[in-house]
Amino acid sequence: MKEERRGPIVTLDGPAGSGKSSTAKAVAARLGFRHLDSGALYRALTFALLESGVPEERWTGLTEADLLALEVSVEPTETGFDVLVAGRAVGDELRSQRVTSRVARLASLRASRACLMALQRAAGAHGRLVADGRDMGSVVFPDAEVKVYLVADLTERARRRLRDEGVRVPTDRDVAAQSGVIAERDRHDSEREFSPLRKPEASHLIDTTRLSFENQVKSIVSLVDRLTPP
Ligand code: CDP
Repeated sequence: MKEERRGPIVTLDGPAGSGKSSTAKAVAARLGFRHLDSGALYRALTFALLESGVPEERWTGLTEADLLALEVSVEPTETGFDVLVAGRAVGDELRSQRVTSRVARLASLRASRACLMALQRAAGAHGRLVADGRDMGSVVFPDAEVKVYLVADLTERARRRLRDEGVRVPTDRDVAAQSGVIAERDRHDSEREFSPLRKPEASHLIDTTRLSFENQVKSIVSLVDRLTPP
């Protein structure tokens, strides 16, 4: 895989709301690399399954072939990848409550991990990629040149998520409720058998709780700048 690369792969893993996707996007833009949001792929698979009408109690019995038939794919753009379901670009639907509340369940199945593996590795075949998710550095790109593990306090992550959803001044109750939802998804992602969320070996731990977005981006870009050319 590495021989064909024209540049490094940078991975960002971490729990929900740790700032992975926005940071990965900004880091990729700064470096002129593409950004791969692997969470969007698991969300697309969940969306496609819901649309296909397969009842949820049958999800655990699905095979890799069943999931491949849903035709989740990506198309490279200048800055990243468009996510498609059966040839149609999907966007806002992926972050709906309907998808968010079910994605961790689907992502815990071996079939879903297998179904998306080739697609993710193909996206990184030529390097110059910043990939974010839960298992980018540990499973999908174990030989990535730079691996980062992003963390932040649970309440700070809940506040950020609420802000993303347009809640400017959340009450303590809002924060507590959102913290509960995030903690439950983290638990699901960390305790699952296949590709659990964990800090990859040799990854740099960055706690973003009190770090400005700009400093967070800069610190990752500088890790890439410090790489010695092959
Ligand atoms: O943005 P947020 O952190 O809320 O989630 P996301 O990155 O969009 O990922 C949604 C879900 O997909 C996660 O909670 C995981 O269950 C799953 N996922 C995964 O299992 N492996 C990945 N590499 C990326 C996401």
